[in-house]
Amino acid sequence: MQIIVDTPQNIAKRAAAIYQEILAAKPNAILGFATGSTPLDLYAELVRLNKAGEISFKDVTSFNLDEYVGLSPEHDQSYRYFMEHNLFNHIDIDLARTHVPSGLDVSDEALAGYDEAIKAAGGVDMQLLGIGINGHIGFNEPGTPLESLTHVVTLTESTREANKRFFASIDEVPTHAATMGIKTVMNARKIMLIALGENKADAIRATIKGPVTPDCPASVLQLHPDVVVFLDEGAASKL
Ligand code: PGA
Repeated sequence: MQIIVDTPQNIAKRAAAIYQEILAAKPNAILGFATGSTPLDLYAELVRLNKAGEISFKDVTSFNLDEYVGLSPEHDQSYRYFMEHNLFNHIDIDLARTHVPSGLDVSDEALAGYDEAIKAAGGVDMQLLGIGINGHIGFNEPGTPLESLTHVVTLTESTREANKRFFASIDEVPTHAATMGIKTVMNARKIMLIALGENKADAIRATIKGPVTPDCPASVLQLHPDVVVFLDEGAASKL
C-alpha cells in the first residue's frame, strides 16, 4: 500500500491527477466510483478539470459501489441521485454508461448481473473507496465474507447513525443496501482509498496495521497489489 498524508485540498488535487494519468493512458477506462462526503472535493476537482478541458470522461464506463435498498434513482438521498448531482451532470460522461446498483430490484438476477456487467465491461481499472468508522468499504459491514460478490447487506446501527445527517430522521435511513462485495472491490486493478478526519483514525489503523479480518473489511486491502491510500492528519493520527 502506498500511504500519502496531506491536506484535504491537496488530496483532492493529487487524487484527480491520478485520474488524469489513468484516462490519458486509457480514455475508455472503467472507473469505480463511491459516494459519501469524502469524495466531494475530488469530484469538484474532476468537474473543474473537465470544464477546463484537462480531463475527459466521454469514453468512460463507471460502476458505483452501492445503493440504498428501497430508494428510487430520483430520491434525493439515493446514490444514483448523488452521483448525477455531484459528478455525472457536470462532466462529459455518457450517462448510459454509468452504473449504480439498483435499490429497487435486488433480485438474485439483478445482483449477479451487476458483477456480470463489470466483467463484461472488462473489469474495473480503478475503484475509489471511502471507509466507514467501522471499517466498511462499500456497504460491506464487519463480518462480510471476503469472498462476497454484489449482495444485499443489513446496515449496522452505527452506519445508519453516521448517515442520518442526510435524512429527516433515523427512521428514514434505509435498513438495507445493495453493495459490491469485497471480492468485487478486490477485483479492481487499482484501488484508491480516501479517509478524512479523526473519526476515521481507528478504522484506518485497523486497515493498515491490523490483521486481515472480516472484522475490519478494509483490512483486506493489504492483500491487493496496487492500493493508494490518501489520509489527512486526522485520519492518519493513530498510525
Ligand atoms: P463518508 O462515508 O465519506 O460520508 O465518511 C464513507 C463510508 O461510509 O464509506
